[in-house]
Amino acid sequence: MCGIFGYIGKKDAALILLDGLATLEYRGYDSSGIYVSGAGNVKTIGAVENLRKIIPKNFYGTSGIAHLRWATHGEPTERNAHPHTDCAKSVWVVHNGIVENYKELGELLSLRGHKFQSSTDTEILAHLVEEEMKLTKEFPAAVSAALKKVRGTYGAAFMHGGEPNLIVAARMGAPVVIGCGTEENFVASDASPILRHTRHVVYLHDGDVAIMRQNSHHIQTLEGAAAGRASHTIEWDEAQVQKGGYDHFMLKEIMEAPGVVENAIRGRIVTSGGLAKFGGLEAVKDKLRDVKRIVIVGCGSAYYAGLVGEYMFEECAGISTEVEFGSEFRYRKPVVDDHTLLLAISQSGETADTLEAIREAKRKGALALGIVNTVGSTIARECDAGIYNHAGPEISVASTKAFVSQLTILALVTVFLGRQRNMSLATGREILAELTQIPVKIDKILQQKDKIRKLIARYSSFRDFLYIGRKYNLPIAYEGALKLKEVSYVHAEGYGAGEMKHGPLAMIDENFPTVAIVFQDSVYEKMISNIREIEARKGPVLALATEGDNDVSALVRDVLFIPKTLEILSPILAVVPLQLFAYFNAVEKGHNVDRPRNLAKSVTVE
Ligand code: M6R
Repeated sequence: MCGIFGYIGKKDAALILLDGLATLEYRGYDSSGIYVSGAGNVKTIGAVENLRKIIPKNFYGTSGIAHLRWATHGEPTERNAHPHTDCAKSVWVVHNGIVENYKELGELLSLRGHKFQSSTDTEILAHLVEEEMKLTKEFPAAVSAALKKVRGTYGAAFMHGGEPNLIVAARMGAPVVIGCGTEENFVASDASPILRHTRHVVYLHDGDVAIMRQNSHHIQTLEGAAAGRASHTIEWDEAQVQKGGYDHFMLKEIMEAPGVVENAIRGRIVTSGGLAKFGGLEAVKDKLRDVKRIVIVGCGSAYYAGLVGEYMFEECAGISTEVEFGSEFRYRKPVVDDHTLLLAISQSGETADTLEAIREAKRKGALALGIVNTVGSTIARECDAGIYNHAGPEISVASTKAFVSQLTILALVTVFLGRQRNMSLATGREILAELTQIPVKIDKILQQKDKIRKLIARYSSFRDFLYIGRKYNLPIAYEGALKLKEVSYVHAEGYGAGEMKHGPLAMIDENFPTVAIVFQDSVYEKMISNIREIEARKGPVLALATEGDNDVSALVRDVLFIPKTLEILSPILAVVPLQLFAYFNAVEKGHNVDRPRNLAKSVTVE
């Protein structure tokens, strides 16, 4: 949540910062602001478009910092927008995170005469640095000293009016990436705004402080000791963070699903042996043989992907599995031992609750693996081993292609773990062979895009939806409902079809449609009975059914046909039309699809 971006070099900083902020917009869009050394500070409510409009002519300087806010402390007003400054308007700061002890620090600073202009926790940081500057004339040392007093999380960048050739960035619990260009350097919450300038980046670790100038960057700890951090080359290119001709990132990312599956399986299948292989698991493969229990953690869509994983691991690999929200796991007293595998799923690799769950499980002796999309992210670094999705950057707040990729990798991990245990060669081969067919099958579904768009006319007026499924596709019912809520602001509930009679059936009437996932699989007959019960109460039903299943077409109001696949892989196909359904519903309603209200892409606060 919140995005920071900073530039120091020889070019027009405002131009670079505004362009970079536009790329970061998915991280927050309540308010935005910029400080350019020598030019001053501008901020406004809303995102970059608004900011761009009010930047004065001749707002010129060659270094600066900028911010997009997702409000935590204080209303999303101009006053609360970043950058924040101190009493003398010398220290400027942009911040992603939360200063937990802001009240007590604020009281101390007030006693020393500081006056605050906003109701944010971030402003405290500027005043703290101002206070430290009285003791040390060194700006980087003052920033470090100030941050030592802070409890909470920050990914922050600081500037001082008197030192235009210096940005000090720091990280504690919120991501910070340094981009290393030629005679210019960048700092950002993630690599997306940096990519058009350089692919060479350094990821800060918690407790790191980066001292950046036009021609150099030096990374040290809060205590001042040198911290050698390796430089990485990003594989993504700039085109991947552009819309590429689509109206929205969400649609572009849904349409990328076939390629995403190909990228997830590339080089990971050994057809002859019916085996899956992962470079990232080599070092721990013997430990994985000893795993007796798996706990999957994730939040939102990643959690639902985990629920599919639970079915896969238990049925096909024979390993007892549980799935937990990251936010719950860390506050329970989870029973975890050194035969437990903690599998964290996260697109961003920065979700605070998932990260804390990993830390808690590791403390208790579990082996922690990650399925993560963002290379170099905190979760990727903190897990003992892991698998990258290689799905490319996901910009739309609603997770689509990353979810498809997570399911694909879970299927591969099922074969990996299953073949270490009792899964037969034939079953391993069968799953893997079918996985290679999934991209073509998703393509067939995507070709129904216009049909799904037209369907919206029949469903867009409904205010409530039920999504039902069983077994592998129950989590897809949850995910389908989440997508609709998230981008269309329509109430939707995912429910186990078998549970309908235990309560929700009471809500069904002609104004309460149900989306039912009913494939010709091990729960087909049961699903058909549940749909009949809904039909009998006049509930409109839109079904996802197996291609050629005319019985379902005869039973329900609308059907979308999905190519036949193995039951274990069917969720990968089922989710795609539900993503499109939510997308077109949101477009029909005129919502800002890529940036749903109140949400941010990467949830780095609890
Ligand atoms: O980056 P993560 O995968 O850890 O994010 C987890 C959730 O915040 C995320 O899946 C969220 O639920 C999406 N907006 C859903 O579309």
